Amino acid sequence: MCGIVGYIGYREAQPILLESLKKLEYRGYDSCGIAILGSVARNDGLEGVPANRIQLCKDVGRVVDFEKTIPKIQGGTGIGHTRWATHGKVSAANAHPHTDCGCKIAVVHNGIIENFQKLREALIKEGHLFTSETDTEVIAHLVEKYYRGNLVEAVSRALADVTGTYAIVVLAEGHKEIVVAKQESPLIIGIGDKENFVASDVSAVLDYTDRVIYLEDGDIGVVSDRDITITNNGQKVNRDAQIVLWSAQEAQKAGYEHFMLKEIHEQPKAVENTLRGHISFIDPMARLDMGKMGVLKDILMVACGTSYHAALIGEYILGKLCHVPIRVKTASEFNHYEMALDKTWVLGITQSGETNDTLRALKKAKLLGCPTMAITNVQGSSITRIADQVFYTQSGPEIGVAATKTFTAQLATLYLLALSLAPIDILDIREYKKLIGEMKSLPSKIHQVLDGEERIAKHGRGLAKFDNAFFIGRGVSYPVAMEGALKLKEISYIHAEAYPAGELKHGPFALLRSNTPVVAIAARDDTYEAMITSIKEIKARGPQVIAIAEEGDEDIGQFVDVVIPIPRIDPLLSPFLNSVALQLLAYYAAKERGCPIDLPANLAKSVTVP
Ligand code: F6R
Repeated sequence: MCGIVGYIGYREAQPILLESLKKLEYRGYDSCGIAILGSVARNDGLEGVPANRIQLCKDVGRVVDFEKTIPKIQGGTGIGHTRWATHGKVSAANAHPHTDCGCKIAVVHNGIIENFQKLREALIKEGHLFTSETDTEVIAHLVEKYYRGNLVEAVSRALADVTGTYAIVVLAEGHKEIVVAKQESPLIIGIGDKENFVASDVSAVLDYTDRVIYLEDGDIGVVSDRDITITNNGQKVNRDAQIVLWSAQEAQKAGYEHFMLKEIHEQPKAVENTLRGHISFIDPMARLDMGKMGVLKDILMVACGTSYHAALIGEYILGKLCHVPIRVKTASEFNHYEMALDKTWVLGITQSGETNDTLRALKKAKLLGCPTMAITNVQGSSITRIADQVFYTQSGPEIGVAATKTFTAQLATLYLLALSLAPIDILDIREYKKLIGEMKSLPSKIHQVLDGEERIAKHGRGLAKFDNAFFIGRGVSYPVAMEGALKLKEISYIHAEAYPAGELKHGPFALLRSNTPVVAIAARDDTYEAMITSIKEIKARGPQVIAIAEEGDEDIGQFVDVVIPIPRIDPLLSPFLNSVALQLLAYYAAKERGCPIDLPANLAKSVTVP
């Protein structure tokens, strides 16, 4: 959360910083700011100031509004920030950049300085004047305290005093370089020609370069327009530049009203690309019977939010096809548990590869001696440097805060994993080949769901008038219901709860009213009859029921108010199609309510704080 950028080069920094910040708003967007080493242009009627001073502008609100209110600043070196508040309320004073007492040093920061209170008190005693409530401001004052003409040295000394997580960019008057540092929060350097860029992630620099350096924990870098020098623990280190595989075009809306809608529509490709190169290589005879080989005793998956729901679906599929003991924990909770892990294979699932709780969980598992694997969508992300093995989903950049195409690509990965681990006595060759064939049909079946968009949109708009909704499923469809509820609540602000259908009568029935719609995921598997029973029990109490059901299901229509038909597929694969329908339902409910779909209130795409 929070996006940081830096630029140093021959061009004007201001437009580059502002455009880059717009690309990072999905990391936080309650306030923003820039600091540029330069001067305010005089032709805008504002007082000019001497050149090469830190020109600081910051305010609450979005970058598009901010840029209209600030003067034109001339200068080729600058830093910027878009904030997701952690320490201190949303206010102009708490917006970054933060400066030292004399406004000669400016800092942008993503992360949390855990010991900031103690440091702040000590600095105040030493005479430093604080102007914000943030943890970040201590960094600016510490750099000031240690500054003796050498900026990188002052930054190193300052960072030695802090505990916590950070990605920072520091700008100082009198310096032709910016200083960057990283500890547990992501930071990349984009390499240009006589110019360099710094950002929290590659999406901010794709318009300018495809060559980036992914900084590692403990790195401190000095970046000028032509040079980049990185040290770690006082030693100079070489960090190879990597070519980013995403294009700037992929990170555009391409005519869609929202990134979320575009990303929903990109799911056939995301699933196809993720399966490609893997699915044809799974040799049915050479499946790894890990259980028998004694290699794999059990699997633990750790993840948050939507990725956690993918893990729960993975738990069902792996359990069904492999009969391996599987546990799934939300990463933040795993970090509080003492679980018995003995050669447990720990999978961290995170589209961004930066979710702090998931990173911590995987680190903990490694410390306990467990083999680890990451499933992520982001090349070079932090989790790729922690896990023993990495599997990349091939979704392309996902910008909308609500995860969509990365979720179905995670599912594709987990199904591939289950197929490659499934022992022959559980999944025989015939069934196996049938399932592979069905998986290959997923992209076209997802297209068919998308073809029904208008019909789903109508029902989504219908949901918009309600304040509460239930989502129910059984078996593999229960985590699908959880994901449907999460999508609805996060983008439309309708309170939505997911329950295993059988659980409703153990309490939640008390809340059923005619104004509480229920979305029932009715997969045509062995849970179907029980689901019909649950639907009847619900209908007897008044709520409207919307069923997501297989097309051609003649029966269900008699019991529910609305049926959203989904193409036929092996019920094991139904989560792919049902999830896409639920995403569209949520999208159109949110659109009807006029919600800011790509940037829901209080949420950020990449949750880099614990
Ligand atoms: C919801 C959503 C979040 C993320 C969660 C984990 O639509 O996107 O719940 O799934 O913050 O993010 P990653 O997958 O990046 O670890």
